[in-house]
Amino acid sequence: MENNLKIGLFGFGCVGSGLYEVLNQSELIGAKIKTIVVKNKHKKRILPEHHFSYDPNVILLDETINVVVELIDDSKAAYDIVIKALNAGKHVVSANKKLIAEHLDELIDTAKRNNVSFLYEAAVAGSIPVIRNLEEYYNNDSLSAIRGIINGTTNYILTQTDAGATYAEALKTAQELGFAEADPTLDVEGFDARYKLVILIKHAFGVSFEPEEIPVKGVSALRSVDIRYAKERGLRIKLLARAEKISGKLFAVVSPHFVTHDEPTYGVNNEFNAVEVQALFSDRQLFYGKGAGSYPTASAVLSDISALKYDYKYEYRKSVGLKEDLSTGDFEVKVFVGASLDYDLRLLPFVQIDESYRGLEDQYVVGRIKSSDLKDLFEDHQISITLFNEKPITSGDLSQTFVEHEILETI
Ligand SMILES: NC(=O)c1ccc[n+]([C@@H]2O[C@H](COP(=O)([O-])OP(=O)(O)OC[C@H]3O[C@@H](n4cnc5c(N)ncnc54)[C@H](OP(=O)(O)O)[C@@H]3O)[C@@H](O)[C@H]2O)c1
Repeated sequence: MENNLKIGLFGFGCVGSGLYEVLNQSELIGAKIKTIVVKNKHKKRILPEHHFSYDPNVILLDETINVVVELIDDSKAAYDIVIKALNAGKHVVSANKKLIAEHLDELIDTAKRNNVSFLYEAAVAGSIPVIRNLEEYYNNDSLSAIRGIINGTTNYILTQTDAGATYAEALKTAQELGFAEADPTLDVEGFDARYKLVILIKHAFGVSFEPEEIPVKGVSALRSVDIRYAKERGLRIKLLARAEKISGKLFAVVSPHFVTHDEPTYGVNNEFNAVEVQALFSDRQLFYGKGAGSYPTASAVLSDISALKYDYKYEYRKSVGLKEDLSTGDFEVKVFVGASLDYDLRLLPFVQIDESYRGLEDQYVVGRIKSSDLKDLFEDHQISITLFNEKPITSGDLSQTFVEHEILETI
């Protein structure tokens, strides 16, 4: 690779401006930003006006620029920029999980055809170097599961509700502190975590998923009955993005989960992220750190830029060596379903019920359902669903019994 990295930077917001400062402080890597393209001509900037341009072609058609760093907040515009940059023979570094999750195979092919690198460590879990570790360290078949708290906004909200705040209070504080957007939908409904899970699955198991294929439930539908249930049993609720290989098939989901005190993700609080990797011989390992923010995210972008110095490319060895059809299987999953008293929980497709409760204000059932029913259940806005962080059972391993339990009094 060229010793001189000449960078065209798209975006000068939270991460882009962070990268500018981080790069200035680490001249060691011999990379310089030549041009910055932004969108809004009337915005006040911390740098003089001559640093900025508003025309993407100023970067894309500049043959002296060999690296495009894409840090914009518009995934459609980012798609055009990244495809054009790769086709122009430029290496690309991006942090845009939505763009990457929605077009991953096409972007990989385009980079490969043009013999350039396409790196995106910052797109998943911010500063935590999880993608490169999945590529380089866990590059064999022994990985069995990956579970992550990979959205800081929802982890902050859940930490606060665990400490007694209401959901609305916790969301408001998250917005005031800059952890949540004015429109928090992508975060609180779990879509952001699902984009990141699509990327993790590609590197952990070699499988390509469309985001919509993975059942998703966010934190906005959690009810006080879920939180009470967790508190009384010493559990915490965490939004886990999870993929596990079971009997040659993948189970993948993004959903609130009950986590016990002996699990690595139990103590991951507030805006912090963590990714737990489970492998055959090394057992469980936890990567922990800041999943967002200007400098932490910029540090991951910087690491990708410096990797370009030694021609680094993801090799997707898991995809290349994929022998089995790892498409999703059908499993039985242990869930908690909460609802108000006027909802008939008996209509839900439980294959087994372990526990049920009907109080003065709300009710719940704990039991097993098929993973193929999760999507429909997640779309039912009258119920809350929290999964238990237990290995799902391959469907059919369990007798299909429906056990009615006694209705308990109030808890
Ligand atoms: N913030 C984080 O902690 C974090 C963490 C991980 C990943 N990311 C990802 O990093 C990317 C950037 O996030 P951010 O938080 O830095 O966003 P941001 O603060 O909202 O800044 C977005 C930047 O993109 C520019 N922009 C938007 N549309 C553009 C276009 N069509 N052409 C050129 N520039 C355009 C904006 O220009 P103007 O300045 O002119 O408005 C602005 O400078 C996103 O993909 C995000 O998902 C962010």
